[in-house]
Amino acid sequence: MIELATRAPSVHNTQPWRFQAGPGALDLYADRTRQLAHLDPTGRQLTISCGAALLFARVALAAAGVAHHVELMPNHDDFDLLARILLAGDQEAGPDETLLARTIPRRSTVRGIFDERRVPARLRDRLAADAASEGAWLRWIDSPPERAVTAVLVTRATRVEEADPAYRAELRRWRRDGGPDGVPAAALPYPPPRQRASDAPLRDFEPDNARLEAGQATARILLRLTAAGAAASPLGQVLDLPWTREQLRLRLGLLGHPQMLLRLGYAPAGGPGTPRRPVEDVLADQVAEARAGSTQDARPDRSPHVRAGLAPNARTDPVRPGAGNRSASVLT
Ligand SMILES: Cc1cc2nc3c(=O)[nH]c(=O)nc-3n(C[C@H](O)[C@H](O)[C@H](O)COP(=O)(O)O)c2cc1C
Repeated sequence: MIELATRAPSVHNTQPWRFQAGPGALDLYADRTRQLAHLDPTGRQLTISCGAALLFARVALAAAGVAHHVELMPNHDDFDLLARILLAGDQEAGPDETLLARTIPRRSTVRGIFDERRVPARLRDRLAADAASEGAWLRWIDSPPERAVTAVLVTRATRVEEADPAYRAELRRWRRDGGPDGVPAAALPYPPPRQRASDAPLRDFEPDNARLEAGQATARILLRLTAAGAAASPLGQVLDLPWTREQLRLRLGLLGHPQMLLRLGYAPAGGPGTPRRPVEDVLADQVAEARAGSTQDARPDRSPHVRAGLAPNARTDPVRPGAGNRSASVLT
């Protein structure tokens, strides 16, 4: 289950999450050592990324027949504890969550050129319902004026970021091949966006709950798109900079906080997926040891913990984590 959760998208593939299993619960922590200090000083994108991992974990649990419910930000004295998943016994695995769970290993960010096919109305309705089910609002950017404004703001943000040595240095650090994290060359768009005739270039205060909800909504949308043979890539730049983000909000007349801007459409499947850190890296050590111990026990255990891939008797005190395309946006 944790392995499926780690397949979630994350900004620059930083994978800024840690899991801690206890009796009857799974805690999700932010790993601030993986926060992008320059691009993401407030941790907004880190929290969205963790929200995506939370949704993947929930889908995996539901598909394994494990009932659960989630508390967001359960401890007001610990803002790194983003969510607690409380396991609540058995339930029948629903067909929709099973479908989405099967999709997890196939999903990846597709940065190539999309073809002319539009996302059909039925799928659009479904995506909007998926976003709403997670407490977010999906806003389509369809009209030519809105698309033009969005493209201009994305372009401006891209130029500002590309002219910023600290931004470039941070991007370089996370653009790498052969490791368990970061973005490998094979996942980057070809031809590079600047050589394309059209297409937008790729790439306050609000509570963490809203960001977690946006992350979960985004993750559900991405799985739904993959299940339907469609694809998405985030256009993050415009939301990185406070002033382009605010301009987008004002110019599109948005009521909420824009959290994700996605380009949706159809494209050939991308290359090999991006790497992920091994489960042992993101689960607290004590839990990994308990898991290893439990695999030596030959007796079958069908408890929700085991089906969820969790240690049944992990310690309870939290271990602190180491210090032609249509656009859509997700708002909360
Ligand atoms: C909050 C967030 C922001 C992202 N921003 C961008 C972006 O601006 N440009 C981009 O190409 N990918 C962006 N991504 C996608 C990640 O780079 C991608 O999820 C990561 O490299 C892992 O690859 P995968 O999604 O193919 O598994 C973003 C993902 C998240 C969760």
